[in-house]
Amino acid sequence: MTATKGLEGIVAAESSISSIIDGVLTYRGYNIDDLAENATFEEVAYLLWYGKLPNRAELAGLIDQLNEYAPISNEVINQIKTYPKDANSMAALRTAVSSLALYDAEAGDMSREANLRKAIRLQAQLPTVIAAFSRIREGKEPIAPKKASSVAESFLYMLTGKDPEKVAIEALDKALVLHADHELNASTFAARVTVATLSDIYSGVTSAIGALKGPLHGGANEAVMAMLEEVGTVENVENYISTKLANKEKIMGFGHRVYKNGDPRAKHLLKMSQELGKMTGNLKWFEMSVKIEELVTGQKGLKPNVDFYSASVYTTLEIPRDLFTPIFAISRLSGWTAHILEQFENNRLIRPRAEYTGPTHQKYVSIDQR
Ligand code: ACO
Repeated sequence: MTATKGLEGIVAAESSISSIIDGVLTYRGYNIDDLAENATFEEVAYLLWYGKLPNRAELAGLIDQLNEYAPISNEVINQIKTYPKDANSMAALRTAVSSLALYDAEAGDMSREANLRKAIRLQAQLPTVIAAFSRIREGKEPIAPKKASSVAESFLYMLTGKDPEKVAIEALDKALVLHADHELNASTFAARVTVATLSDIYSGVTSAIGALKGPLHGGANEAVMAMLEEVGTVENVENYISTKLANKEKIMGFGHRVYKNGDPRAKHLLKMSQELGKMTGNLKWFEMSVKIEELVTGQKGLKPNVDFYSASVYTTLEIPRDLFTPIFAISRLSGWTAHILEQFENNRLIRPRAEYTGPTHQKYVSIDQR
């Protein structure tokens, strides 16, 4: 038995949700470029859960459900109030999502209908949890979800209490479309492993949030912004990047396990970053990002991934840096839950083997003789 480090190249599940073939990403067979240009996040979530694009009535039904489920209970709000003000935002999200299960009467119902309702409920409530955490730590009261609105609009509204600009809603919505699913990425795999024991959907999503938190996965978008802030100016980029590369340090937001010729989602975020920069009159983050890309691609042949330009997009939308990965979670929740439902449909325990590299033929030594 020989291990494959990081399971690289291992096909670990069958799935009809999303595919990456020859560098092309599709959700249920629809090219991500087509969806990014044309679909809303709610349409994409419907597509991932139900396997088809919704008609008008189906989409309106889903939006109604999302609006109905969006408020979170006072118990969960009161619990968030007890979190330390400097709690890591992904740790707070992981804890709060786990708590949501305690107040969901259907938490233990394993029927497909109940699991689908829970998926939609989680999709509705994740933005409310994140916005509540963000406000509570600033000493403010949480704001109730905005009625009859999209996930993107309601989330931006709950953060500030102000009606967001159309351009901000559209930008966030597109970012949500781009992050919604990505085949067997680390967090989705974590969710599938968890529920393949026939554990519940909340446990699966809690595992996934834990996996997304790391800087080699979703946490990279925050790390990109930390880097941009550290570099500070376009003039400093060259020295900073060359030194990092010479020291064999990783540049966050570059490279990918599957895409070796570029992440198809990155170009949409680059475009958004430039457009938002122009609109707000602040192109600094975009210009620094372009310069970094030029150097990293030129010197290492590495291309930006989805996390790289999302950092400047979210910053231009005035979203606090440590909410970038929670926003990724809002979007990827649609994919996680679609995968959880798919796992339940044709379940088998996921239990691989390990290549043993420890000592052999050891003889037990009594404790007095050690
Ligand atoms: N900066 C500099 N060098 C890099 C980078 C990077 N971002 N990514 C890979 N490399 C180098 C490695 O140092 C390694 O070089 P070596 O062969 O000389 O040792 C080589 O490229 C292969 O890298 P691995 O880390 O083995 O590639 P792997 O497929 O395991 O990792 C990963 C993929 C984790 C995404 C990696 O590229 C990385 O760490 N990137 C930075 C973090 C990041 O942006 N993560 C987000 C990924 S997208 C997402 O999850 C949403």
